[in-house]
Amino acid sequence: MTQTVLIENNEELNKVYALNLEAYTNTNIIKRQNAADTIELLSILPNIDLIITNSTIEEETTALMLATYIEKNKLDIPIIITGQCSDLKGKYPILPIGVKWQELAQNVAKVMGISSEQLKVKIMPEYFPISIKYFYEVKLSPCDLYIRIKKADQYNYIKRLHMNDHFTKENIQEYENNGLRHFYVEQKNKDAFTTFMTNKLIEKLENKNLPIAQRLQSNAAAYDLIKEKIKVVGLDEQTIDLANASIESMVIAVKQSPKLAELLRDLLSNKVSFAYQKAHFLTVIGDFILSKQSWYQQKHLDLFTFCAFFSDISLDTKEQMLISTTEQLKNSNLSEQEKSQVCNHAKESAKICAEHPDFTTYLNMIITQHHGNMEGIGFELDHEDELHPISKVFIIADQFVTHILNPSLPTDKKVIIKELRSMYPQSSFQKIISLLEKKMN
Ligand SMILES: [Fe+2]
Repeated sequence: MTQTVLIENNEELNKVYALNLEAYTNTNIIKRQNAADTIELLSILPNIDLIITNSTIEEETTALMLATYIEKNKLDIPIIITGQCSDLKGKYPILPIGVKWQELAQNVAKVMGISSEQLKVKIMPEYFPISIKYFYEVKLSPCDLYIRIKKADQYNYIKRLHMNDHFTKENIQEYENNGLRHFYVEQKNKDAFTTFMTNKLIEKLENKNLPIAQRLQSNAAAYDLIKEKIKVVGLDEQTIDLANASIESMVIAVKQSPKLAELLRDLLSNKVSFAYQKAHFLTVIGDFILSKQSWYQQKHLDLFTFCAFFSDISLDTKEQMLISTTEQLKNSNLSEQEKSQVCNHAKESAKICAEHPDFTTYLNMIITQHHGNMEGIGFELDHEDELHPISKVFIIADQFVTHILNPSLPTDKKVIIKELRSMYPQSSFQKIISLLEKKMN
């Protein structure tokens, strides 16, 4: 570790410089008051690596005195000066008085032979955005939270909430009302944050007395977290635990579902993501149709919920999730890559679920067939007679829900039912549509 003498008569700056230079440039700071006590130190420690000094301390021309001493004694010690010092201009770096510690650290790094890239990584650790919606689910954070502010052409991260600081839903709402969409955590804390959030959500979802509106919000937060985790690591053990708690919680919510209008009011809140709105609404509609079958049992609701939860998990955007016909896909403004993702999503979602220990061939079949294609590619119905009865219920429920959630399509339920009847003229589908029609009356 290198050794640096620091002479800075502003107490606050002195602390900030010492703390950050030690942290980011790996140097040991030795504080001195003036030229005299520094020269005294140099007489016993002539191998000091660097001196950082104010140009003057009160009446003393500190920088000039030290430079003269170093030259006279042929010492090889660089100096960084803060404040005006025309006598030494061109000989040593001269920075403005009160210079920011980051800029000072960059100059120190140059002298110490630390590359600017290495320093950048140290001074500006990467930050990871976390959607503000998650913070409605907790009362504190296990690590410091930052907000990002754009200044000129660069982003600055400012610590806004400290680790373990308590906050309320109202506090978070205030941030959101002011336009904040994300808090940021340091990259090194990302995993700890995700684990914390996962555990808190599981704890919440397992509470049987959670009010329905809160349950929907917590389910949505869990769904979104799972979706993000899958993109990075796939379905790992932690994500599976959260998915299981979330699916069970969805089942509870569906069973105690209020009337459809009341459910929609809670579900269509802006705190619930579109992806979750669709999955939940789909489960409610699917369960209604299934419950009218003579063979209906609780296990059918469980497996339908699992499928609704995961069927679109491989899609990224609302625009993609709103597509449910080949025609819509062709006419969409999506990029070729996004279109291909939509086309293959049933197959891909089933692939993701393969990591789940409870993923049976039965579930695989329903997710793969959830748009009518046996291979899980595209939206064209094939081998209608080979489709599983639950897959057929899923196809109709999915079409209905996608249609009703699409703001650019007619929302009149009678019109939607009529369209479904013409899209699926086969008698097995017509029976399912008739059951759905009853629910709408
Ligand atoms: Fe889908």
